[in-house]
Amino acid sequence: MSGDKTEWVWVPAASAIAREAGVGLRRFFSEGVATEYKGDVDLVTVADRNSEKLIRERLAAAFPEHGIYGEEGTRDRLEGEFRWYVDPLDGTTNFAHGFPQFCVSLGLEQRSADLAPDEDGRLVAAVIYDPLRDELFAAERGRGALLNGKPIQVSRTPELAESLLATGFPSHKRHQNPNIHFYHEFCLRSHGVRRAGSAALDLAYVAAGRLDGFWEFNLNPWDTAAGILIVEEAGGQVTDFSGQHFRLDSREILASNGLIHAELLGFFEDMFAGRNLSPIPTPQEFAAHRAANAASSG
Ligand code: IPD
Ligand code: CA
Ligand code: CA
Repeated sequence: MSGDKTEWVWVPAASAIAREAGVGLRRFFSEGVATEYKGDVDLVTVADRNSEKLIRERLAAAFPEHGIYGEEGTRDRLEGEFRWYVDPLDGTTNFAHGFPQFCVSLGLEQRSADLAPDEDGRLVAAVIYDPLRDELFAAERGRGALLNGKPIQVSRTPELAESLLATGFPSHKRHQNPNIHFYHEFCLRSHGVRRAGSAALDLAYVAAGRLDGFWEFNLNPWDTAAGILIVEEAGGQVTDFSGQHFRLDSREILASNGLIHAELLGFFEDMFAGRNLSPIPTPQEFAAHRAANAASSG
Protein backbone atom coordinates (compact mmCIF):
# COMPACT_ATOMS: atom_id res chain seq x y z
CA MET A 1 0.00 0.00 0.00
CA SER A 2 1.33 3.36 -0.97
CA GLY A 3 0.61 6.75 0.52
CA ASP A 4 2.19 8.38 -2.53
CA LYS A 5 -0.73 10.11 -4.20
CA THR A 6 1.05 10.77 -7.49
CA GLU A 7 0.01 7.37 -8.89
CA TRP A 8 -3.60 7.77 -7.81
CA VAL A 9 -6.11 8.36 -10.57
CA TRP A 10 -9.24 10.00 -9.16
CA VAL A 11 -8.51 10.84 -5.51
CA PRO A 12 -6.33 13.94 -6.06
CA ALA A 13 -9.03 15.85 -8.00
CA ALA A 14 -11.86 14.50 -5.81
CA SER A 15 -9.96 15.54 -2.68
CA ALA A 16 -9.60 19.10 -3.93
CA ILE A 17 -13.34 19.19 -4.73
CA ALA A 18 -14.34 17.79 -1.33
CA ARG A 19 -12.04 20.27 0.41
CA GLU A 20 -13.52 23.19 -1.52
CA ALA A 21 -17.06 22.03 -0.68
CA GLY A 22 -16.01 21.55 2.94
CA VAL A 23 -14.71 25.11 3.19
CA GLY A 24 -18.15 26.29 2.03
CA LEU A 25 -19.86 24.13 4.65
CA ARG A 26 -17.59 25.46 7.37
CA ARG A 27 -18.52 29.02 6.45
CA PHE A 28 -22.26 28.28 6.48
CA PHE A 29 -21.81 26.41 9.78
CA SER A 30 -20.18 29.37 11.50
CA GLU A 31 -22.74 31.84 10.11
CA GLY A 32 -25.79 29.63 10.80
CA VAL A 33 -28.41 28.65 8.23
CA ALA A 34 -32.20 28.37 8.11
CA THR A 35 -33.59 24.83 8.07
CA GLU A 36 -36.31 23.40 5.84
CA TYR A 37 -38.08 20.05 6.04
CA LYS A 38 -37.84 17.48 3.21
CA GLY A 39 -40.01 15.08 5.21
CA ASP A 40 -41.15 14.37 8.75
CA VAL A 41 -37.79 15.12 10.42
CA ASP A 42 -35.65 15.03 7.28
CA LEU A 43 -33.86 18.40 7.19
CA VAL A 44 -32.20 20.28 4.37
CA THR A 45 -30.42 23.64 4.27
CA VAL A 46 -29.02 26.04 1.72
CA ALA A 47 -25.63 24.57 2.60
CA ASP A 48 -26.68 21.10 1.31
CA ARG A 49 -27.83 22.60 -2.00
CA ASN A 50 -24.88 24.95 -2.48
CA SER A 51 -22.45 22.17 -1.70
CA GLU A 52 -24.06 19.81 -4.24
CA LYS A 53 -24.08 22.56 -6.89
CA LEU A 54 -20.37 23.20 -6.40
CA ILE A 55 -19.47 19.50 -6.39
CA ARG A 56 -21.56 18.91 -9.52
CA GLU A 57 -19.77 21.73 -11.40
CA ARG A 58 -16.31 20.70 -10.23
CA LEU A 59 -16.79 16.98 -10.95
CA ALA A 60 -18.15 17.78 -14.42
CA ALA A 61 -15.09 19.94 -15.12
CA ALA A 62 -12.60 17.36 -13.77
CA PHE A 63 -14.29 14.25 -15.21
CA PRO A 64 -16.58 15.36 -18.08
CA GLU A 65 -17.57 11.78 -18.98
CA HIS A 66 -18.52 10.74 -15.45
CA GLY A 67 -22.07 10.46 -14.14
CA ILE A 68 -23.22 12.11 -10.92
CA TYR A 69 -25.92 10.83 -8.55
CA GLY A 70 -26.42 13.35 -5.73
CA GLU A 71 -28.66 13.36 -2.68
CA GLU A 72 -30.09 16.79 -3.51
CA GLY A 73 -31.35 15.66 -6.91
CA THR A 74 -28.43 15.63 -9.38
CA ARG A 75 -28.85 12.83 -11.93
CA ASP A 76 -26.30 13.52 -14.69
CA ARG A 77 -24.94 11.13 -17.34
CA LEU A 78 -25.99 7.97 -15.47
CA GLU A 79 -25.61 5.80 -18.58
CA GLY A 80 -21.79 6.04 -18.58
CA GLU A 81 -19.03 3.80 -17.23
CA PHE A 82 -18.29 5.89 -14.13
CA ARG A 83 -20.72 7.30 -11.57
CA TRP A 84 -20.07 9.49 -8.53
CA TYR A 85 -22.37 9.09 -5.53
CA VAL A 86 -22.41 12.48 -3.84
CA ASP A 87 -23.54 13.35 -0.34
CA PRO A 88 -22.81 17.10 -0.30
CA LEU A 89 -23.43 17.30 3.46
CA ASP A 90 -23.69 14.10 5.48
CA GLY A 91 -24.94 14.99 8.94
CA THR A 92 -27.44 17.71 8.08
CA THR A 93 -29.33 17.37 11.38
CA ASN A 94 -26.07 17.93 13.27
CA PHE A 95 -25.19 20.83 11.00
CA ALA A 96 -28.58 22.51 11.48
CA HIS A 97 -28.26 22.27 15.26
CA GLY A 98 -24.67 23.45 15.46
CA PHE A 99 -23.41 19.98 16.48
CA PRO A 100 -19.92 19.65 15.01
CA GLN A 101 -20.02 16.31 13.16
CA PHE A 102 -20.61 16.32 9.40
CA CYS A 103 -18.74 15.77 6.15
CA VAL A 104 -18.70 15.66 2.35
CA SER A 105 -18.77 12.18 0.83
CA LEU A 106 -17.83 11.27 -2.78
CA GLY A 107 -17.75 7.63 -3.94
CA LEU A 108 -16.94 6.52 -7.49
CA GLU A 109 -18.47 3.39 -9.05
CA GLN A 110 -17.19 1.81 -12.27
CA ARG A 111 -19.96 0.07 -14.22
CA SER A 112 -19.27 -2.33 -17.08
CA ALA A 113 -21.49 -1.98 -20.17
CA ASP A 114 -23.33 -5.28 -19.58
CA LEU A 115 -24.64 -4.40 -16.08
CA ALA A 116 -28.40 -4.22 -15.55
CA PRO A 117 -29.52 -0.85 -14.12
CA ASP A 118 -30.14 -2.42 -10.68
CA GLU A 119 -26.77 -4.23 -10.56
CA ASP A 120 -23.75 -2.75 -8.77
CA GLY A 121 -20.46 -2.02 -10.46
CA ARG A 122 -17.14 -1.82 -8.56
CA LEU A 123 -16.39 0.98 -6.15
CA VAL A 124 -13.03 2.34 -7.31
CA ALA A 125 -12.42 5.64 -5.52
CA ALA A 126 -13.64 7.43 -2.41
CA VAL A 127 -13.15 10.66 -0.51
CA ILE A 128 -14.75 11.71 2.78
CA TYR A 129 -13.84 15.15 4.12
CA ASP A 130 -14.55 16.44 7.63
CA PRO A 131 -14.06 20.21 7.32
CA LEU A 132 -14.12 20.96 11.05
CA ARG A 133 -11.25 18.60 11.87
CA ASP A 134 -9.61 19.04 8.47
CA GLU A 135 -9.55 15.24 8.08
CA LEU A 136 -9.61 13.79 4.61
CA PHE A 137 -10.19 10.03 4.29
CA ALA A 138 -9.54 8.56 0.85
CA ALA A 139 -9.16 5.27 -0.97
CA GLU A 140 -8.75 3.80 -4.42
CA ARG A 141 -9.31 0.11 -5.13
CA GLY A 142 -6.09 -1.79 -4.63
CA ARG A 143 -4.18 1.25 -3.38
CA GLY A 144 -5.22 1.25 0.28
CA ALA A 145 -6.89 3.86 2.44
CA LEU A 146 -5.44 7.14 3.68
CA LEU A 147 -6.18 9.76 6.30
CA ASN A 148 -4.57 13.07 5.39
CA GLY A 149 -2.16 11.21 3.13
CA LYS A 150 -1.08 8.55 5.66
CA PRO A 151 -2.16 4.89 5.41
CA ILE A 152 -4.88 3.77 7.82
CA GLN A 153 -6.03 0.35 8.95
CA VAL A 154 -8.99 -1.04 10.82
CA SER A 155 -8.61 -1.90 14.51
CA ARG A 156 -7.39 -5.23 15.85
CA THR A 157 -10.10 -5.52 18.50
CA PRO A 158 -10.73 -9.27 18.58
CA GLU A 159 -14.18 -9.51 20.14
CA LEU A 160 -17.47 -7.73 20.45
CA ALA A 161 -17.20 -7.44 24.24
CA GLU A 162 -14.17 -5.14 23.78
CA SER A 163 -15.50 -3.17 20.85
CA LEU A 164 -16.74 0.38 20.33
CA LEU A 165 -19.60 0.46 17.83
CA ALA A 166 -21.72 3.05 16.05
CA THR A 167 -25.12 3.19 14.45
CA GLY A 168 -27.68 5.69 13.20
CA PHE A 169 -31.44 6.00 12.99
CA PRO A 170 -33.41 6.93 9.87
CA SER A 171 -35.40 10.15 9.67
CA HIS A 172 -37.81 8.57 7.15
CA LYS A 173 -40.47 6.09 8.41
CA ARG A 174 -38.77 6.12 11.80
CA HIS A 175 -41.80 4.55 13.53
CA GLN A 176 -41.32 1.42 11.44
CA ASN A 177 -37.67 0.96 12.31
CA PRO A 178 -36.55 -1.64 14.91
CA ASN A 179 -33.03 -0.29 15.40
CA ILE A 180 -33.57 0.79 19.01
CA HIS A 181 -33.75 -2.92 19.93
CA PHE A 182 -30.40 -3.53 18.24
CA TYR A 183 -28.97 -0.42 19.87
CA HIS A 184 -29.99 -1.69 23.30
CA GLU A 185 -28.59 -5.19 22.79
CA PHE A 186 -25.29 -4.00 21.36
CA CYS A 187 -24.90 -1.43 24.16
CA LEU A 188 -25.08 -4.30 26.63
CA ARG A 189 -22.62 -6.46 24.70
CA SER A 190 -19.87 -3.94 23.83
CA HIS A 191 -17.98 -0.99 25.28
CA GLY A 192 -20.73 1.22 23.87
CA VAL A 193 -22.59 2.35 20.77
CA ARG A 194 -22.09 5.89 19.45
CA ARG A 195 -24.78 7.66 17.45
CA ALA A 196 -22.87 10.65 16.12
CA GLY A 197 -25.13 11.45 13.14
CA SER A 198 -22.94 11.09 10.06
CA ALA A 199 -22.93 7.63 8.50
CA ALA A 200 -20.06 8.48 6.15
CA LEU A 201 -17.85 9.55 9.06
CA ASP A 202 -18.92 6.45 11.03
CA LEU A 203 -17.62 4.33 8.16
CA ALA A 204 -14.44 6.39 7.89
CA TYR A 205 -13.89 5.89 11.63
CA VAL A 206 -14.22 2.11 11.24
CA ALA A 207 -11.54 2.35 8.54
CA ALA A 208 -9.29 4.42 10.83
CA GLY A 209 -9.69 2.01 13.77
CA ARG A 210 -11.55 4.56 15.92
CA LEU A 211 -14.62 2.33 15.81
CA ASP A 212 -14.67 -1.46 15.55
CA GLY A 213 -18.05 -1.77 13.87
CA PHE A 214 -21.00 0.15 12.44
CA TRP A 215 -24.47 -0.83 11.29
CA GLU A 216 -27.51 1.02 10.04
CA PHE A 217 -30.86 0.39 8.33
CA ASN A 218 -32.11 2.24 5.25
CA LEU A 219 -29.07 4.19 4.14
CA ASN A 220 -28.75 5.42 0.56
CA PRO A 221 -25.85 4.92 -1.89
CA TRP A 222 -24.66 8.51 -1.36
CA ASP A 223 -24.27 7.78 2.38
CA THR A 224 -22.31 4.56 1.95
CA ALA A 225 -20.47 4.35 -1.40
CA ALA A 226 -17.32 6.18 -0.30
CA GLY A 227 -17.20 4.72 3.21
CA ILE A 228 -17.50 1.12 2.02
CA LEU A 229 -14.43 1.35 -0.18
CA ILE A 230 -12.44 3.14 2.51
CA VAL A 231 -13.32 0.42 5.06
CA GLU A 232 -12.46 -2.39 2.63
CA GLU A 233 -9.19 -0.78 1.59
CA ALA A 234 -8.29 -0.35 5.27
CA GLY A 235 -8.69 -4.12 5.72
CA GLY A 236 -12.26 -4.21 7.05
CA GLN A 237 -15.38 -6.04 5.95
CA VAL A 238 -18.76 -4.78 4.74
CA THR A 239 -21.86 -6.96 4.27
CA ASP A 240 -25.60 -6.85 4.79
CA PHE A 241 -27.07 -8.17 8.06
CA SER A 242 -27.04 -11.76 6.74
CA GLY A 243 -23.38 -11.67 5.78
CA GLN A 244 -24.15 -11.36 2.06
CA HIS A 245 -22.09 -9.16 -0.21
CA PHE A 246 -23.12 -5.52 0.34
CA ARG A 247 -25.09 -3.94 -2.49
CA LEU A 248 -25.62 -0.20 -2.81
CA ASP A 249 -29.38 -0.62 -2.55
CA SER A 250 -29.14 -3.19 0.29
CA ARG A 251 -30.89 -0.89 2.77
CA GLU A 252 -28.79 -2.53 5.49
CA ILE A 253 -25.10 -2.19 6.15
CA LEU A 254 -22.76 -3.90 8.59
CA ALA A 255 -19.14 -2.76 8.53
CA SER A 256 -16.42 -3.93 10.88
CA ASN A 257 -12.74 -4.57 11.38
CA GLY A 258 -13.39 -8.10 10.04
CA LEU A 259 -12.31 -9.76 13.30
CA ILE A 260 -15.67 -9.21 15.03
CA HIS A 261 -17.80 -9.58 11.90
CA ALA A 262 -18.90 -13.19 12.47
CA GLU A 263 -19.83 -12.39 16.05
CA LEU A 264 -21.87 -9.36 14.96
CA LEU A 265 -23.65 -11.42 12.31
CA GLY A 266 -24.46 -14.08 14.92
CA PHE A 267 -26.15 -11.44 17.06
CA PHE A 268 -28.14 -10.15 14.11
CA GLU A 269 -29.33 -13.72 13.49
CA ASP A 270 -30.29 -14.09 17.17
CA MET A 271 -32.04 -10.73 17.23
CA PHE A 272 -34.09 -11.45 14.11
CA ALA A 273 -35.03 -14.83 15.60
CA GLY A 274 -35.88 -13.27 18.99
CA ARG A 275 -33.20 -15.40 20.72
CA ASN A 276 -30.93 -14.48 23.66
CA LEU A 277 -32.40 -11.01 24.19
CA SER A 278 -31.37 -9.23 27.39
CA PRO A 279 -34.30 -8.08 29.52
CA ILE A 280 -34.14 -4.62 31.06
CA PRO A 281 -36.68 -3.11 33.45
CA THR A 282 -39.61 -1.23 31.95
CA PRO A 283 -39.94 2.42 33.04
CA GLN A 284 -42.89 1.36 35.20
CA GLU A 285 -40.90 -1.40 36.88
CA PHE A 286 -38.06 1.04 37.43
CA ALA A 287 -40.45 3.66 38.88
CA ALA A 288 -41.85 1.09 41.33
CA HIS A 289 -38.32 0.16 42.42
CA ARG A 290 -37.43 3.86 42.76
CA ALA A 291 -40.55 4.55 44.84
CA ALA A 292 -39.79 1.55 47.07
CA ASN A 293 -36.21 2.83 47.60
CA ALA A 294 -37.48 6.30 48.44
CA ALA A 295 -40.00 4.85 50.93
CA SER A 296 -37.39 2.69 52.68
CA SER A 297 -34.81 5.50 52.93
CA GLY A 298 -37.34 8.21 53.90
C1 IPD B 1 -27.93 11.00 7.51
C2 IPD B 1 -26.71 10.71 8.35
C3 IPD B 1 -27.10 9.99 9.63
C4 IPD B 1 -27.90 8.73 9.34
C5 IPD B 1 -29.12 9.05 8.49
C6 IPD B 1 -28.67 9.75 7.20
P1 IPD B 1 -27.91 13.18 5.93
O1 IPD B 1 -27.56 11.62 6.29
O2 IPD B 1 -25.80 9.92 7.65
O3 IPD B 1 -25.98 9.58 10.36
O4 IPD B 1 -28.29 8.16 10.56
O5 IPD B 1 -29.77 7.85 8.21
O6 IPD B 1 -29.82 10.04 6.43
O7 IPD B 1 -29.39 13.24 5.74
O8 IPD B 1 -27.43 14.01 7.05
O9 IPD B 1 -27.15 13.37 4.66
CA1 CA C 1 -26.28 11.29 4.25
CA1 CA D 1 -26.88 14.74 2.98
